[in-house]
Amino acid sequence: MTTRRRFTLTQYLIEQRRRFPSASGDFNALVLDVALACKAIARSVAFGELTGVLGNPLMDVATSVNVQGEDQKRLDVISNEYFTQMTEWGGHLAGMASEEMDEPYQIPETLQRGKYLLVFDPLDGSSNIDVNVTVGSIFSILRAPQEAIDSGRDVVEADFLQPGTEQLAAGYALYGPTTMLVLTVGNGVAGFTLDPNLGQFMLTHPNLAVPEDTQEFAINASNSRFWEAPIKRYVDECLAGKTGPRGKDFNMRWIASMVAEAHRILMRGGVFMYPRDTKDVTKPGRLRLLYEANPVGMIIEQAGGRASTGREPMLKVTPDALHQRIGLVFGSKNEVERIERYHAERPVFEDERNPLFVERSLFRD
Ligand code: AHG
Ligand code: MN
Ligand code: MN
Repeated sequence: MTTRRRFTLTQYLIEQRRRFPSASGDFNALVLDVALACKAIARSVAFGELTGVLGNPLMDVATSVNVQGEDQKRLDVISNEYFTQMTEWGGHLAGMASEEMDEPYQIPETLQRGKYLLVFDPLDGSSNIDVNVTVGSIFSILRAPQEAIDSGRDVVEADFLQPGTEQLAAGYALYGPTTMLVLTVGNGVAGFTLDPNLGQFMLTHPNLAVPEDTQEFAINASNSRFWEAPIKRYVDECLAGKTGPRGKDFNMRWIASMVAEAHRILMRGGVFMYPRDTKDVTKPGRLRLLYEANPVGMIIEQAGGRASTGREPMLKVTPDALHQRIGLVFGSKNEVERIERYHAERPVFEDERNPLFVERSLFRD
């Protein structure tokens, strides 16, 4: 077997930095710190029960709950610590925010503060940990407000409430059969595979591109009775297959790790939906805008796909809270645009609850 010359993540970042001759190198150093945290998480995930990291933090009793009101697994907590510990020291960050922390994380005063904000979901799909199914980490890098950088003050929630178009970089790590890092710095999407011998992420997937068309969709169908009409219509048409209005058969997948679904879609196309529904009207969607929808949205769009709420482009949404939830549809461009068209044709959410328009009503369309 001949060896093949491959670029490392560090080399890729140096190459990308050449586009910005005045860049200090802080940004690259930050991405490498994040990659180190991901490598540490990959090892914890890989050792699984051997090191007793599975289950809930407190004796497997569901007593630990995060700000989302969801059970926290031991690995959720460990992964969060890897992220904070491995990125706070470098002097590149003004602050951080995470799914697992109610409030923004402050860089300790004994350390240097920098100009970037790091937002992350340390472990996505963590309900899959105990069943040995792929999980991942998702991150987004924003610039801190100039006045916060100049003063070095503590960060506040408002500093993070920037639309996805402001992201400087986004990425995810995937802890599956191989560990991968997928990254965009705003110039396309590159995929790296962790070489376990060298402990280095190697560039294996330059220029990832999402096919524009697909015959595969992903949605948690157990929520179908809570879906809005445009989603019902889209899924019904897919299920109708060859003999339906789409004139072709569709395949369905549901991993319950959004990060793994995003990766499948990057590799071979598809559409993912966790739309706004009526299951719990206090929750406008299941997934979180700042550390799930926006970073995945940026990656998918940089790869030529599309990410949307169904009603507007995801990256244009101005967040109103750190842990805001949102309806999310992303993937192959033509399918996401079709779903947006169905929403535009039936725009008024309130109508769904109006008795005149419910199932079996005279006015049902
Ligand atoms: P997290 O583990 O960070 O809380 O995220 C889990 C998310 C997402 O990854 C996945 O697509 C979705 O929750 C699964 O939802 P269901 O439980 O409805 O399948
Ligand atoms: Mn998640
Ligand atoms: Mn998580």
